[in-house]
Amino acid sequence: MTRISTPLTDLLGIEHPVCLGPMGLISVPSMVAAVSNAGGLGIMGTANYDTEALRKAIHETRSLTERPFGVSIMAGFPSAEGHAKLAIEERVPFVTTSAGSPKRLAPMFREAGIECFHVVPTVALAMKAKQAGATGIVAEGAEGASFKSRDEVSTLVLVPQVVDATGLPVIAAGGIGDGRGLASALCLGAGGIQMGTRFIATQESPIHDNYKEKLLDMRETDTRMVGRKSGPLRVAINPCSDDMMEFEALTDEPQELRKKIGYHKFPAAALQGDTENGLVVAGQIAGMVKDLPAVGDLVTGIVDQAAATLKKADARVAG
Ligand SMILES: Cc1cc2nc3c(=O)[nH]c(=O)nc-3n(C[C@H](O)[C@H](O)[C@H](O)COP(=O)(O)O)c2cc1C
Repeated sequence: MTRISTPLTDLLGIEHPVCLGPMGLISVPSMVAAVSNAGGLGIMGTANYDTEALRKAIHETRSLTERPFGVSIMAGFPSAEGHAKLAIEERVPFVTTSAGSPKRLAPMFREAGIECFHVVPTVALAMKAKQAGATGIVAEGAEGASFKSRDEVSTLVLVPQVVDATGLPVIAAGGIGDGRGLASALCLGAGGIQMGTRFIATQESPIHDNYKEKLLDMRETDTRMVGRKSGPLRVAINPCSDDMMEFEALTDEPQELRKKIGYHKFPAAALQGDTENGLVVAGQIAGMVKDLPAVGDLVTGIVDQAAATLKKADARVAG
C-alpha cells in the first residue's frame, strides 16, 4: 500500500493525510468512522447536536472505529463551550473550530493537550488564530462548499501564505477532489487535505441519492455564492438558490437576509432529495465528481494518484 507520511500524519497518528470535512447531516458517526477506518481522519460535524447528542455521537463513533477521529466546534454558537468541555472530557484526539473566534476555546484545548486547528479564509485570521492558541490551521479557499468569507481568496493563493505566515501545521481545504489536489497541497506546504464535496459523493455518505446524482451532473461553473450581504454560502445553482438571489436583491436588512439565506432548506435536499427546491451545498470541485466510490477506495486512490503525481514531477527535475 502506498503511504505518504507528512508532519500531519505523524502528529495525528493517521495513515493518510486525508480528512473528511465536518458537514452537518453528512459527517455523522458512520461516515466519520468510514474515513478513519480507511486510514484518513473523519471530522464530525456538530452544528445539529446539543451536548447529549454529541456525547452519543462520540460514543457511537468509538464503537465503529478504534482509529483517531476529530470533532468540529462552531466557535460562535451558544453550544460551543459545552461542546468543547465534552470533547475534553471524552478525550477526543483532534478538534477543529470554525464560524467564530477560537479565543476562548483554543486555550482550553491547548491546556488539555488536544490538537486544535482553526478554520480560516485569510492570512490575517490565521495569525489571529495562532495568537489565540490554535495549534494548527485549516486554510479553506473560497472555491469550497458552505460558508465562506467575503474576501473570497482561493486555496492556491491562501495555503502557502498561511504556511509561511504562521509556521503552524496546515490542512488545505476547498476545491480538492483527487490525488493531484493532494499532491498540490503538499507542494504548497500543507501537511494534508480536507474534502467535503468529494466525500459527499461516496457509497457510505448518508445523503439522499438525488443529491449524489446532482453532484455527478454538475460542472465546475454550476455553483454560486448566495448571501454575499449577510454571510456568503457556496451552493449549487438551482431554483432554491435562484430564490435566495432574488430575495437578496430586495433588501439590505441583515436579520431578514439571514432568515431566508442559510441552511434551513438544506434538509429538503439532503434528506428528502428535493434538489430543485432544497439547498444543495456544494463546491466548485463538483465538476470533477464523476463516480460514487466506496470511501476506502476513494482514499487509497487519492493517495496512489498523489504519489504517482509527485514521482512524475520529481522525474522532470534536472540538475
Ligand atoms: C453540507 C456541508 C456542510 C458543511 N458544514 C461545515 C461545518 O459545520 N463546519 C465547517 O467547518 N465546515 C463545514 N463545511 C465545509 C467542509 O467541511 C469542507 O471544509 C469544505 O466542503 C471543503 O471544500 P470542498 O467542498 O471543495 O471539498 C460544510 C460543507 C458542506 C458541503
